[in-house]
Amino acid sequence: MPSTSLLRRARSARLALCATAVAAAAAGTAPAALAAPAQVTGGDVDWSQVNAYAMGGAARTWLGYVTTLAQGTAAATAPATGAEVTPSSPKGAEAVYTFAFPVEGGSYDRAARTGTIRAKGTVTFTSALHRFAITVTDPVVTLSGATGTLAASGQGGASGQTPYSADQPLFTLDLSNATVTTVGPGTQRITGIAPALATANTAFPANYQVGAGPDRTPNTFGTFEVTVSTAIDGSIRTQRKRRAVVVSPELRLLKARGARVSLSTASSRARIARGTISGRRLTLTLKKGRTLKPGTYRIWGATNPPLTIEISR
Ligand code: HEM
Repeated sequence: MPSTSLLRRARSARLALCATAVAAAAAGTAPAALAAPAQVTGGDVDWSQVNAYAMGGAARTWLGYVTTLAQGTAAATAPATGAEVTPSSPKGAEAVYTFAFPVEGGSYDRAARTGTIRAKGTVTFTSALHRFAITVTDPVVTLSGATGTLAASGQGGASGQTPYSADQPLFTLDLSNATVTTVGPGTQRITGIAPALATANTAFPANYQVGAGPDRTPNTFGTFEVTVSTAIDGSIRTQRKRRAVVVSPELRLLKARGARVSLSTASSRARIARGTISGRRLTLTLKKGRTLKPGTYRIWGATNPPLTIEISR
């Protein structure tokens, strides 16, 4: 069961955000300030854990238990990535190991910092000695301003082999010490997300109670970092014959000036225009017989994965 105080905090954060949005709408604020949830187009959920286990001491993490007392390993299964941690891996407060789950979908509002981010892949904690194979698969991160949850499915519990599902959160997330940066057009990175166990005896056995994690330094379950990409907004400034100029303030975040790109619709890779990006302007030459209509497009060649842009009139 999630702690009631955390739930209450999450709820009040949501309410505060709704109230802000309503006030902005009443004041007739420009739509950009009222950014709506947008489709998630990419990113990563990174899980970093310290590998330390001092018997009876404070510096004891879950990963440290696995590789030290239980003489086991932690490993990623594709599409998750990260080096395997073994009993002989370096240990101590500075020994931080990161597993990355690629983001495959969801919906996120970058202005309000609310939404649901779905990632793929598995991390498995295995011990032949203590007989467990605990998995955390396909994490779903739900953010609501300064709070959030992470749900996943897999197997765990006292036997280390009982299935659990993403119906209930595995961790509550505390973003009160998190740092949010814009790292590219449409891409936000949130670092320093602290997990606390939301539900006992699902993935991890009941040695850990609800709320466990931040009660120890370093956090028993590490920290999370979420990088989330969503579509950017653009508008058609001019269109004459096959030349069109699209303007989007976020394009200014691209490092390469005059980058050569191509444009496709959102649903296909087929190029409908070539162009260049300079500052906030995307200058396009459309294929014969094409006109640029409002809609969702992909810009190829400027970022990896390609940038999704919602073009309005
Ligand atoms: C042969 C079987 C096992 C042995 C001998 C064993 C032994 C131990 C010992 C000695 C501790 C340290 C207790 C302390 O520091 O007070 C411990 C802690 C723990 N064990 Fe096991 N264990 C076994 C099986 C398991 C299994 C099957 C799981 C998981 C499903 C598990 C999960 C844990 C956890 C989560 C802790 C707490 C680690 C922490 O302090 O962060 N153990 N175990």
